[in-house]
Amino acid sequence: MRVIIKNDYSDCSLWAANYVAYKIKAFHPTPKKPFILGLPTGSTPLGMYAELIKMYQAGKLSFENVVTFNMDEYIGLPPDHPQSYHHFMHENFFKHINIPQANIHMLNGMTKDYALECQNYEETIKRYGKIHLFIGGVGADGHIAFNEPGSSLSSRTRVKTLTNDTIKANSRFFENDEDKVPTTALTVGVGTIMDAEEVMILATGAAKARALHHAVEGSINHMWPVSILQMHQHGIIVCDEAATNELKADTVRYFKEIENQALKGIKK
Ligand code: GLP
Repeated sequence: MRVIIKNDYSDCSLWAANYVAYKIKAFHPTPKKPFILGLPTGSTPLGMYAELIKMYQAGKLSFENVVTFNMDEYIGLPPDHPQSYHHFMHENFFKHINIPQANIHMLNGMTKDYALECQNYEETIKRYGKIHLFIGGVGADGHIAFNEPGSSLSSRTRVKTLTNDTIKANSRFFENDEDKVPTTALTVGVGTIMDAEEVMILATGAAKARALHHAVEGSINHMWPVSILQMHQHGIIVCDEAATNELKADTVRYFKEIENQALKGIKK
């Protein structure tokens, strides 16, 4: 696992955006061989999206041959609901870049047949082969996408019931009214995320420090779903100093040193 420790939120956002751009360009995507990107919502990735939009606007990056799969969507919110993840993605990313509408995949939280919707989602990913880079945030309780503590670490796309902690945390987007937050969501599974060629988790702010401790120093445990990243061949965590508050000083030093060594190697 790589742990990239940056000074603050904006440095993390820039690093993550540069990494996404580098991966897309190095892949040389074409209509027949698109780059497949897994995408998150939440406040953490907003800075990364803003940087990616800037790169597109400056003519430095194209999303023409990029196909996206979003992680999750609330059940019962129509796509035009201001708090739906469809709306979030459109407003904060898709409407600003040149991604063809047909390349965007999102779970439909208004479906009448959840099982079929989830099965189709998994099959569509498989038809493309695999997700090349899955980007995620992490909840303060260690959830990834909407895989709450106790989720099967080999789970696939399905319905999940949100925990009280998540409802409370996400109520900030629903006028601080917990009753307005949907109680269920459709989400890719932990297994779906782990199947990606590479997984990059963004964790910023002191509120994520406990989750980061479990992800990096804890043992793999379903009560901290993000800890499964330890089993991924190409897992990256991008975090700021504040999120490392609960890591041992030695752990922080180790990951900083190893990234510096790698940088020196590249410069040589
Ligand atoms: C939600 C999303 C997750 C996201 C988490 C953290 O629950 N389903 O994908 O990682 O929130 O969000 P934030 O980045 O706002 O802290």
